[in-house]
Amino acid sequence: MNIVILAAGQGKRMNSALPKVLHPLAGKPMLGHVLDTIKILGYEVCPCLVLGHGQSAVRDFIDQRQYSVSIARQEEQKGTGHAVLQALPLLSSSETTLILYGDVPLIQAQTLESLLRLAQNGAFAILTQVRQDPTGYGRIIRNLNAEIEGIIEEKDANSEQKQIREINTGIIACATKDLKNWIQQLQPNNAQGEYYLTDIVGLAAKEGVPIRTLHPEFAFEVEGVNSRSQLAQLERVWQEHLANQLLTQGVTLIDPARIDIRGHFQCANDVTIDVGCIFEGTVEIATGVTIGPYCVIKDSKIGVQTQIKAFSHIEGSVVKEMAIIGPYARLRPGTHIDSHAHIGNFVEVKNSHIGLGSKANHLSYVGDADVGQRVNIGAGTITCNYDGVNKHRTTIEDDAFIGSDTQLVAPVTVGKGATIGAGTTLTKNAPAEKLTISRAKQLSVDWQRPQKNKSKD
Ligand code: UD1
Ligand code: CA
Repeated sequence: MNIVILAAGQGKRMNSALPKVLHPLAGKPMLGHVLDTIKILGYEVCPCLVLGHGQSAVRDFIDQRQYSVSIARQEEQKGTGHAVLQALPLLSSSETTLILYGDVPLIQAQTLESLLRLAQNGAFAILTQVRQDPTGYGRIIRNLNAEIEGIIEEKDANSEQKQIREINTGIIACATKDLKNWIQQLQPNNAQGEYYLTDIVGLAAKEGVPIRTLHPEFAFEVEGVNSRSQLAQLERVWQEHLANQLLTQGVTLIDPARIDIRGHFQCANDVTIDVGCIFEGTVEIATGVTIGPYCVIKDSKIGVQTQIKAFSHIEGSVVKEMAIIGPYARLRPGTHIDSHAHIGNFVEVKNSHIGLGSKANHLSYVGDADVGQRVNIGAGTITCNYDGVNKHRTTIEDDAFIGSDTQLVAPVTVGKGATIGAGTTLTKNAPAEKLTISRAKQLSVDWQRPQKNKSKD
């Protein structure tokens, strides 16, 4: 099979330096959605991208994400038919060609599979839609037997044709040898002076090629984006769709209109998610987890029955079962929190392992540390992991107790069962089972507080 993706348009109405197809929907460039959907189709196909405006930025994106595509250039945008013309030399004639659009991001693989089935044996398959308001779209012209005769663009339509509510979504599939033949016959004799891809439908009808139509399952699949307002609307529609899928799966969403999923979100049933949470990248949530309001969770895994409390930020981390995180916790990449551990408010953990049942409940920084089991990290504890050049690790063994306001100057080890007195600056290893303390001796002296000068007139 061949796939052509049209993406040469400038997207003027976006008012942006970024090419339209690179504007993100649900955290991923629109073009990325189309390319990922093609991957789901599972054909060994190298889609042909037709690029014009903003080519270099699109190429950078393609390279970065390692998509395999071929590129046809359309330097001047003379219409959708002219765009496909640029791709023709790259298409193998013996197969079917599917035409997609870089700014129609949410077309679903299932719909494309159905369309491709319709296009078997040399038929012409078009995805059409019946719209309440068809303004702006090409209309599907049918004869008295309801057979398709052609497509008329809005700007070329007479008032009677404008009444037609069945519209062309632009997504088609047909035999490539026919496509090549028809595209080369196109003439720009229409209101816009463009080469219309849609004119090939009339040519197919004249040749008696069977023309078959299909409607998408969801209206959002064929919505194109021309402005930021349309992009924002489509984002909401998509998020609503994802939220509904979660509800169906058995996830409780306190408000399905206030959740954002930007990536691959795998959520078990009986998870409760409060309002305003954002899930990015690859996130896996196990059953029984509760997530409080306004949490951001990115590229992380959360274990069974763990509680993530309000305003927590978790990235690149694994949290095992029955842990309690937050409110206001921050877990940065490389963090592993074992089961039953507690990470409390204003605690930042980075690239560290926190053992079973250990607690850091208040105002601490734990970076590059290996913390054993049942350790208690007091309020205001800081691992001083960075000497200005290199990072060093801190080891805190099982059952240690770190008093409040301790600085652990890495590399340093706190032995098993050791106690560190509050306010200690630990620069040498603390032996197991002992109290280690570094603190200036407390003293009291007589002292008169200065008085404010009383000015006399
Ligand atoms: C097109 C269809 C119309 C359909 C509508 C659906 C034609 C002539 N009309 O109209 O029947 O109802 O889409 O949204 O096809 N593009 C290029 N190069 C060009 C022109 C366009 O790559 O020279 C790309 C654009 O980037 C865009 C897509 O093709 O992604 C559609 O072009 P656009 O100008 O938006 O077509 P419409 O007038 O909306
Ligand atoms: Ca359009």
